[in-house]
Amino acid sequence: MPVITHVGDLQRLARRRVPRMFYDYADSGSWTESTYRANEHDFGKLLLRQRVAVNMEGRSTRTAMVGVDTAMPVAIAPTGLTGMQHADGEILAAQAAEAFGIPFTLSTMSICSIEDVAARTRAPFWFQLYVMKDRDFIERLIDRAKAARCGALMLTLDLQILGQRHKDLKNGLSAPPKPTLRNLLNLATKPRWCLGMLGTPRRSFGNIVGHAKGVGDLSSLSAWTAEQFDPALSWRDVEWIKRRWGGKLIIKGIMDVEDARLAADSGADALIVSNHGGRQLDGAPSSIAALPAIADAVGSRIEVWMDGGIRSGQDVLKAWALGARGTLIGRAFLYGLGAMGREGVTRTLQILHKELDLTMAFCGHTRLQDVDAGILLPGWRERLDGLAR
Ligand code: GLV
Repeated sequence: MPVITHVGDLQRLARRRVPRMFYDYADSGSWTESTYRANEHDFGKLLLRQRVAVNMEGRSTRTAMVGVDTAMPVAIAPTGLTGMQHADGEILAAQAAEAFGIPFTLSTMSICSIEDVAARTRAPFWFQLYVMKDRDFIERLIDRAKAARCGALMLTLDLQILGQRHKDLKNGLSAPPKPTLRNLLNLATKPRWCLGMLGTPRRSFGNIVGHAKGVGDLSSLSAWTAEQFDPALSWRDVEWIKRRWGGKLIIKGIMDVEDARLAADSGADALIVSNHGGRQLDGAPSSIAALPAIADAVGSRIEVWMDGGIRSGQDVLKAWALGARGTLIGRAFLYGLGAMGREGVTRTLQILHKELDLTMAFCGHTRLQDVDAGILLPGWRERLDGLAR
């Protein structure tokens, strides 16, 4: 077993342990994958200002996201098919998040259902909603999230249609995988994963199969989303969902200042600057490049968060410095999950926390609340502006 010291170690282990179809689903972007790569690489364009002889005792990374106390400004992002990275993946990740003291978000496209996760956790988790054409189904989903006492609804607006995901099409992505020769050969090299899956009844989309009309199983994810996701989604629907839900609302998938203003006007509690991990519009700027203009425009009216490309606690601190009052991690926790189940997610969180804490200290701060763009070397705005245009 390799010594795990950073998220890249967990990624390598996950690539070995998770069937190719599901590893690729998580670790890829749309079309040329340029946005997917930029999300991660653009953090590297921001240089940190080292300070010395500043008292570094008594540090804290605690904050709150939509009023929920969190050990650091990091929440688990909603990711589809999480229970295919590891058996019972959503339950394990939610439990790891709860133990660490950060929020967990369950995806509409999860394997474990809302009820299943609620029965196996104590802290209220957040539920992410995709808007589908079948409004009865959406109403029932919202009611199920309420009944499970979910603490906030995260409404994703950037997946009215599916991005061009070449790897998924080539792999014939489905849950559970179809027993083709290629899949069987690949599964034979993943005994740990197979054993886990044989030991759980949770192998298809728990929130959907048996709940949406006419859905017995999802043979092809891309065909099903093409058919079901609503391309006509509008801000009027956001209003309707906000009313129906009645609780805290987080809007995910904002990359444009005009859209950020509309999100703030909608009365939502938070918005997430996000290009869906580079999985939707390839050619869009990275999230970190899009963040400063959005935080400047609406940061006083709505909590601004970001996701995309966060692989270290340094990335979390840089996002905070540029105005994100919270971040979400998708792949970073999926690698941990695929590598080592619940323990792997805990490792991811420990690693991010340590990196965040150390970097904050080296930059001369003991409290996150005192950190702003002053921790970055001058010139960051010009560098990011060049990437956002
Ligand atoms: C979301 O479910 C995705 O596949 O990006």
